[in-house]
Amino acid sequence: WGEDGHAIACSIAQSRLSDTAAEAVKQLLPSYANNDLASVCSWADRVRFYLHWTAPLHFADSPDGLCNYQYNRDCIDQNGEKGRCVVGAINNYTTQLLDYGKDTQYNLTQALLFLSHFMGDVHQPLHVGFTSDKGANLINVHWYTRKQNLHHVWDQSIIETAEERFYESNRDNFVSAIQENITKTWADEVDKWEACSSDETTCPNIYASEGIKAACQWAYKDAPEGSVLEDDYFLSRLPIVNLRLAQAGVRLAATLNRIFQ
Ligand code: ADE
Ligand code: ZN
Ligand code: ZN
Repeated sequence: WGEDGHAIACSIAQSRLSDTAAEAVKQLLPSYANNDLASVCSWADRVRFYLHWTAPLHFADSPDGLCNYQYNRDCIDQNGEKGRCVVGAINNYTTQLLDYGKDTQYNLTQALLFLSHFMGDVHQPLHVGFTSDKGANLINVHWYTRKQNLHHVWDQSIIETAEERFYESNRDNFVSAIQENITKTWADEVDKWEACSSDETTCPNIYASEGIKAACQWAYKDAPEGSVLEDDYFLSRLPIVNLRLAQAGVRLAATLNRIFQ
């Protein structure tokens, strides 16, 4: 996601924290964040350009056309190093944060900012796209009259167009609308979103598997190289973007609540 998508997921998450988790997050946030997690949710995107080792941690692509995700096959970087993808990163920073309150070698402020960002990214369908087109970064389309790549359409354009058209260009209005969906439309599903099998603190393999399915079913579908995407595509895909932002927020909160309980 871009700045907006990450901020939306983090706003939703912070509003759902338990008292204990909210206090830990407050302690860990840098002072310039003024206890607002959303304001630092894109920090990981700003550092990826000089902390080069973090670049592969934003996504987990898979071979063309399979439309499934497998940790052992897909959670690797270009050198084939295992665990160097968004799923491995979520597991890693969750483990680091479990050291909260102990004497630790880890920078838990960075761990919180990385975890909050990557929980957003794993829910962007094209961050779990195909390797050959770099998660649709290499697919050129038109977003209405503008030249855009398909990845950017999902990172930013759908969200921006929705905010302009339906929410008076106000991000908080969009957040409120998603929060209302969480408590009404999706009320019966939220428990399932939050749950992980057995005793896991977080379960990013599930989030990534859902992601590649959504990428095949919605993002790549009817959006080949050179296509013009307008109302048909926008209005049918916006509900998926809403759902993935909601799940990202709910699951970030659930993960932080389990870490800091
Ligand atoms: N680079 C390669 N694949 C990518 C993806 N799915 N998302 C963002 N950047 C990428
Ligand atoms: Zn992206
Ligand atoms: Zn990212």
